[in-house]
Amino acid sequence: MRKGALVSIILILSLLAVACGDDGPEGVEVDDILPAAHWEEEYPDQYETYMLNLEMEGTTFGGSEPIDYPEEYPYLQTLYAGNGFANDYIRARGHPYSLEDVIHIDRPKPGASCLSCKTPEYVGLLNEHGSEAATMDFHEAAEIAVSPVSCFDCHGNEPGEILITRTHLEDALENVEEEMAMGNLVCAQCHVEYFLDSDTLEVVLPWENGINAWDIEEATIERGHVDWVHPQTGTELLKVQHPEFETYMGSIHDRVGVTCVDCHLPEMENDEGDIFHSHHVTSPLKYVEASCLGCHQETEEELIARTEAIQEDVYVKKNEIAELLVDLVEEFEEALEADELTDEDIEEARLYHQRAMWRWDFVFVENSTGFHNSEFAHTILDEARDYTEQALEIIRNR
Ligand code: HEC
Ligand code: HEC
Ligand code: HEC
Ligand code: HEC
Repeated sequence: MRKGALVSIILILSLLAVACGDDGPEGVEVDDILPAAHWEEEYPDQYETYMLNLEMEGTTFGGSEPIDYPEEYPYLQTLYAGNGFANDYIRARGHPYSLEDVIHIDRPKPGASCLSCKTPEYVGLLNEHGSEAATMDFHEAAEIAVSPVSCFDCHGNEPGEILITRTHLEDALENVEEEMAMGNLVCAQCHVEYFLDSDTLEVVLPWENGINAWDIEEATIERGHVDWVHPQTGTELLKVQHPEFETYMGSIHDRVGVTCVDCHLPEMENDEGDIFHSHHVTSPLKYVEASCLGCHQETEEELIARTEAIQEDVYVKKNEIAELLVDLVEEFEEALEADELTDEDIEEARLYHQRAMWRWDFVFVENSTGFHNSEFAHTILDEARDYTEQALEIIRNR
């Protein structure tokens, strides 16, 4: 190697080290990660409100009760048939439960990367083992992990400033030109649609075409990713997971510059009159005054009513389409069993089934029941209905 090249490589490496800073998660090993309890005395307001995340209080459409979804929505057993979510799928509850919930949920766990968004110790594992951490045995890695989602995930070992601790988000952001607010990105580390690469098991946020439901669908298909094959219809399906960030982008509130943090970690005052960010990260409808009334002139009751009316419309529509999707699965299965469809019909009906499920699931698994972006929720649900009807038409006209 020429001397000049070596010098510039050393220069680049040292610049990178400066850019990464000292307080970030780089190089931090599992044992270095400080647990939430470490900060109890230094940051009592943040710590005490963080511990409130253990409460399990519901709201009309959301909240923190661990609702058993397949029991609450029996149609899931048909729509998700062949996928672990058909049997074991519980509503998201507070951050301190993340580790025990992922350990106890009875779904296949191909590798340790299932812990990516459940514990800060996974960041330590990545630093120690590189990308091979992803393929470590899930249960072995879960034994090393001690903390659920906690201070380190948003702050590293120095609470105060927020930072990105997840390399899967940094990698995805390389596809994105526009600046994005940290108040959204800090949550986008986990509250996003992703899949695990089938070879490396690494977490992938497929953002190369853009960050919306259509571009992500396209990128996922281009990468040849399939989540599962529906046992009754033979359709190759894609499973969506909690796309809060992607849904929120472009919404009414995003357009006026509001971030996840403004609503979910609003500023509050302690008994001494000091201002701090509440760390009870739950339904903002439990804290309307702090979260919303700084901007909205309505009373608390009026604003909750307006919010729930928006959620109700989405809730009704998602259930209607789910029933239509059940019809599709059942009639498609019958037609296949009776051998009454041409290869072309089958291919086309499966394509529409896949598209419909992606669109419906994008709203179903998003945790705000449409509130984060009701305009988008209606658009994509209407498309889901269209695709379901087109598939049904092929099957019924056989
Ligand atoms: C304008 C205020 C606002 C913003 C901004 C906002 N949310 Fe929400 N979020 C809500 C409301 C309201 C709900 C519905 C709560 C309910 O149904 O009880 C909700 C629900 C949720 C839920 C489910 C919580 C539950 O208890 O049911 C999650 C998770 C969530 N939001 C994450 C995010 C993320 C991540 C972002 C940023 C990308 C974000 N939110 C931005 C207001 C907001
Ligand atoms: C889910 C992400 C998240 C977690 C987990 C989290 N924080 Fe924060 N924290 C924030 C955000 C967002 C802010 C607001 C800072 C900002 O907007 O720059 C904040 C601010 C703070 C501040 C600055 C003072 C204030 O209240 O604004 C301290 C101190 C702090 N957090 C301590 C903690 C401690 C201690 C824990 C664990 C018990 C913790 N945080 C867990 C996201 C988080
Ligand atoms: C390191 C991953 C991670 C980060 C970062 C993260 N979350 Fe979460 N969040 C989760 C997981 C996992 C759950 C579900 C836990 C469970 O059900 O056991 C969850 C649950 C929630 C819930 C449901 C709690 C309830 O009471 O209903 C809300 C609301 C939420 N997160 C908002 C946020 C917001 C806002 C941010 C950014 C400030 C954020 N989260 C950052 C992983 C994360
Ligand atoms: C920083 C200011 C700000 C905050 C904080 C804020 N909003 Fe808004 N909100 C707006 C603006 C601006 C609009 C658009 C004008 C309107 O409809 O009032 C809006 C619109 C809405 C709408 C109509 C949205 C739709 O899809 O049609 C609802 C409902 C709403 N907000 C509820 C809430 C709730 C609930 C919270 C707290 C969890 C909240 N907002 C927090 C500024 C804010």
